[in-house]
Amino acid sequence: MADNLRIGIAGLGTVGGELVAMLQARADQLSAQTGRRLEIVGVSARDRSKARPFAPGTWAWFDTPEALAVAPGLDVFVELIGGEDGPALRSVTAALTHGRHVVTANKALLANSGLQLASLAEANHVALAFEAAVAGGVPVIKTLREGLVGSQINRISGILNGTCNYILSKMETEGLSFTQCLAEAQRLGYAEADPTFDIGGFDTAHKLAILTSLAFGTAVDRDAIHIEGIQSITLDDIRAAAALGFRVKLLGVAERNEHGIEQRVHPTMIAHSAALAQVMGVTNAVSIDANAHQRLTLIGPGAGGKATAAAVIADLTDIARGNVPHPFAVPAAELTPGERVPMQAHRGGYYIRMFVQDRPGAFAAIATRMAERGISLESIMQRPGVEHFSGASNVPVVLITHATTEKLVRDALAAILADGYVSEAPQIFRIERD
Ligand SMILES: NC(=O)c1ccc[n+]([C@@H]2O[C@H](COP(=O)([O-])OP(=O)(O)OC[C@H]3O[C@@H](n4cnc5c(N)ncnc54)[C@H](OP(=O)(O)O)[C@@H]3O)[C@@H](O)[C@H]2O)c1
Repeated sequence: MADNLRIGIAGLGTVGGELVAMLQARADQLSAQTGRRLEIVGVSARDRSKARPFAPGTWAWFDTPEALAVAPGLDVFVELIGGEDGPALRSVTAALTHGRHVVTANKALLANSGLQLASLAEANHVALAFEAAVAGGVPVIKTLREGLVGSQINRISGILNGTCNYILSKMETEGLSFTQCLAEAQRLGYAEADPTFDIGGFDTAHKLAILTSLAFGTAVDRDAIHIEGIQSITLDDIRAAAALGFRVKLLGVAERNEHGIEQRVHPTMIAHSAALAQVMGVTNAVSIDANAHQRLTLIGPGAGGKATAAAVIADLTDIARGNVPHPFAVPAAELTPGERVPMQAHRGGYYIRMFVQDRPGAFAAIATRMAERGISLESIMQRPGVEHFSGASNVPVVLITHATTEKLVRDALAAILADGYVSEAPQIFRIERD
């Protein structure tokens, strides 16, 4: 048998603790599969005296992840601390600089410093592996980087944040408000005390930035992503969407079009028949449109200690077998800047819900503002299922447009608001029909 693969693990929390336990439990099986023993030689966390979910081992304890990263004799440094800078960035940088392979589950770190860290890994001929960083237990990184190498990818769309999907699913199935569902998500540990990062769409954007780079050969560019969260979605909107044959999901979408690579995160109305519409609760899913494969959809656990640790083990076994691909599929120096597409250029159908004052001329004025910009309406519903909007003092109106551009819709809505017939900012969902 070849030499042991000597592993240091920084972070022994939800994922790190489970990783140690799984490496202990499956040691013989993993060495049979890789031809090497996966040996833990060092660990690090904040509190040495904390109870952990694994049996004590013969490994060394390190007070800082940076010290573990450069410890003599280490082959792989596993970073399971979290955070886009601080000890995670410092220790990963130190490990790569010292020629150690790195495995991480840290999407924030990669979304922020992915290109720089990939360059460092390549310069030192080591791996920077991150299967666990996007959609936890769903093997989407390997699928994009290796499984789909024979196909040209044109579009990725995904449910990448379990917290948001849990909230939206529960609103629909149990008829509860956003606030009630968020409180329940917090009680169950699906949402942080400060949920902004999840419900504001930022976590989805970090993951989308990584997937976009892998799919399109562009440098990770999280600032190119248009981001909207789910905070303003009401139960009434979800019910109105359902009545029209749609579900509302927070999607991360990256697609190639004539302008470049469009990247966006926002609530989206998806036809009930689409695979992503069936994904409920904390589950994650990614649909990939690739020319030779048409559409491929992966669905599975987006988080959780076991599923995420299993993804880390998949990366460790790759390293044990000597499979060390470029982190973002092509050499970091060949990743292109990627043409940013402004959201204003987005083309598609729109759901627009507004509360209109019940005055003569109001509806005609709205229709006129749309028509002036060539926006063709598929339907216009006054009082759509009025019981859904029962608290409203003004008349709820839902417009469904045929394909148009974001710019025209925004211009029309600005004109409608200026006319003074609409009482508050309209709700907008982009519509995905397939
Ligand atoms: N949880 C999931 O389901 C999941 C899914 C996908 C990806 N991830 C990613 O995996 C990473 C870890 O997440 P987690 O949920 O396992 O986090 P966690 O439960 O909060 O664990 C974090 C660990 O890091 C240690 N730590 C924190 N600051 C440290 C420091 N300055 N120096 C040394 N150690 C430090 C903590 O030590 P103590 O234990 O001593 O406090 C703890 O063991 C994050 O990047 C996260 O985004 C998590």
